[in-house]
Amino acid sequence: MKIALLGYGKMGKMIESIALDRNHEIVLKIDESNIHELTVENLQKADVAIEFSTPATVLANIQICIDAQVPLVVGTTGWYGQLQQVKDACLAANSTVMYGSNFSVGVNIFFQISKIAAKMMNNFSDQYDVGMEEIHHIHKLDSPSGTAITIAEDILEEFKTKKEWVDVNASENNVTQHRPEHLIIESYREGEVPGTHAVIYDSDVDRIELKHVAHGRQGFALGAVLAGEWLQGKKGFYSVKEMYNFNV
Ligand SMILES: NC(=O)c1ccc[n+]([C@@H]2O[C@H](COP(=O)([O-])OP(=O)(O)OC[C@H]3O[C@@H](n4cnc5c(N)ncnc54)[C@H](O)[C@@H]3O)[C@@H](O)[C@H]2O)c1
Repeated sequence: MKIALLGYGKMGKMIESIALDRNHEIVLKIDESNIHELTVENLQKADVAIEFSTPATVLANIQICIDAQVPLVVGTTGWYGQLQQVKDACLAANSTVMYGSNFSVGVNIFFQISKIAAKMMNNFSDQYDVGMEEIHHIHKLDSPSGTAITIAEDILEEFKTKKEWVDVNASENNVTQHRPEHLIIESYREGEVPGTHAVIYDSDVDRIELKHVAHGRQGFALGAVLAGEWLQGKKGFYSVKEMYNFNV
């Protein structure tokens, strides 16, 4: 596969290394120093574009990939308020986009485990409260993480006493008023942590913790390359959940 990398930072470099190991070729690398090279003509030399840039630049990058009709894997988070418009633009142009707040198989398994747990715990919401924690490196631009939002939205679908998630910047001790219907996400920014997410059910008598700890970025990067492979020959707008399709 010929790959265009949009964003050549921590994730772009890891994706390059894994893609080369899997015998793919990198035909275009874009970061903030050479944005003028991001043209429809250059994109059309690739079989897939993989986008890990910034929340401020991702939407323009998605649009140019749709215009070029190059299949696109979007890993950048922090833009899902515009998800419906992007989906409409993709489908109207008969193009191909897959998005995911997290591409690693481990986190996608964790999403499923957490959703099943929320469904079970919903029967005991008179005894258990649920909360979340996420920890990332200090360079991360969005908060809470896109992964935390996916986990939170799955919990809200199943654990009916919670009505909305609320982010608490725990590093700055920014504690907002906690209402029982709020699913609190405590976000911590520490050192170079690649990504830790925990869901905690607490009662008067015990505590259940579900936790995913990424040891590095390899899992995210491999998942993004697998997504590019999976998109070959497909048209449409996909979530990473459709690729893993655990069927539980
Ligand atoms: N979905 C996932 O599995 C997953 C995993 C890890 C990180 N992420 C997300 O991916 C994004 C990138 O993460 P990172 O750690 O690589 O960040 P990073 O800061 O290391 O890299 C961002 C890169 O984007 C480049 N850039 C800036 N403007 C650009 C533009 N207009 N076009 C293309 N590139 C541009 C920068 O030069 C830099 O190279 C973040 O939103 C992060 O939250 C997603």
